[in-house]
Amino acid sequence: MRRKLVAGNWKMHGSLAENERLLDGVLAGMPGVKAEVAVCVPYPYLAQAQARLDGSALVWGAQNLSQHGKGAFTGEVSAAMLRDFGCKYVIVGHSERRALYGETDEIVAEKFVAAQAAGLIPILCVGETLGERESGVTERVIARQLDAVVAKSGVGALADAVLAYEPVWAIGTGKTASPEQAQDVHAFIRGKLAALDPSVAEALVIQYGGSVKANNAAELFAQPDIDGGLIGGASLAADEFLAVCRAA
Ligand code: PGA
Repeated sequence: MRRKLVAGNWKMHGSLAENERLLDGVLAGMPGVKAEVAVCVPYPYLAQAQARLDGSALVWGAQNLSQHGKGAFTGEVSAAMLRDFGCKYVIVGHSERRALYGETDEIVAEKFVAAQAAGLIPILCVGETLGERESGVTERVIARQLDAVVAKSGVGALADAVLAYEPVWAIGTGKTASPEQAQDVHAFIRGKLAALDPSVAEALVIQYGGSVKANNAAELFAQPDIDGGLIGGASLAADEFLAVCRAA
C-alpha cells in the first residue's frame, strides 16, 4: 500500500492571526488522521509555520521557488531559503504559476531540479485545461508536462517527489473531476512512468487536486491510483480540511 499525503495549498490567503487559529484547529484534529498532512503556506508565514509546527504531527512547505540558487533575482526565493525555514515540500508547476506567471515546462523542470538539489520534496503539478480536455488531448498534455521533468532529472528522481494531477478546469471552480475521470488520468500517469521504471511508478504518490471537499474526498481517495490530495479552498477551514484528511 502506498502512503497517503494530503497537502493544503493556502495560495495567497491568511494573516498571522488567521493562520494561528487555522494551525491550532488542524493540530487539534491530527490524532484522528492516518495520512501525512502538509500545509503549503505563503512565504512570509514560513517562520510562523516552523515555530508552530516543528515537532508536531504536521509538516509544512512552500508554494513556489526560484529555479536559481542565488543572485540578482529581485523578489525571488531559493530552495535553500525554504530549507532554512524547515520546509519539507514545495509545490512546483501549479497551473496558476504556469498560466499567470509564464512558467513553461522547461522552467518547471528547472524548479523541480533546484528543489531536489536542496533536499526539498517537489509536489509536481500537471493537468489539462478545459479546452484541452474537450479537444481530446488530455493525455498528450500531461505526457508533455511529465516528459519535460523526466528529460531533465531522469525517472529515478521521481522516487523523491510527489505528483499532483490537477485538471485546470476543476481548480477553484467547484467542478470536481469525477472519481472515474481522475482515476483514468492517474492510471495513465502511473502506466506511462511504469514503462520507464516500474518500481518508481508503483511507489509514486499521485495526489488529486481540484475542488476536493469534505463531501467528495472519500470517493476520490478510494480510487486505486489516487494517493491523497492537494487541497486549495477546503484547506482554509480547519474542520473542512480535517474531514478531507480523515478521508485519506
Ligand atoms: P481548489 O484548489 O481545491 O481550491 O480547487 C486546488 C489547488 O489549486 O491546488
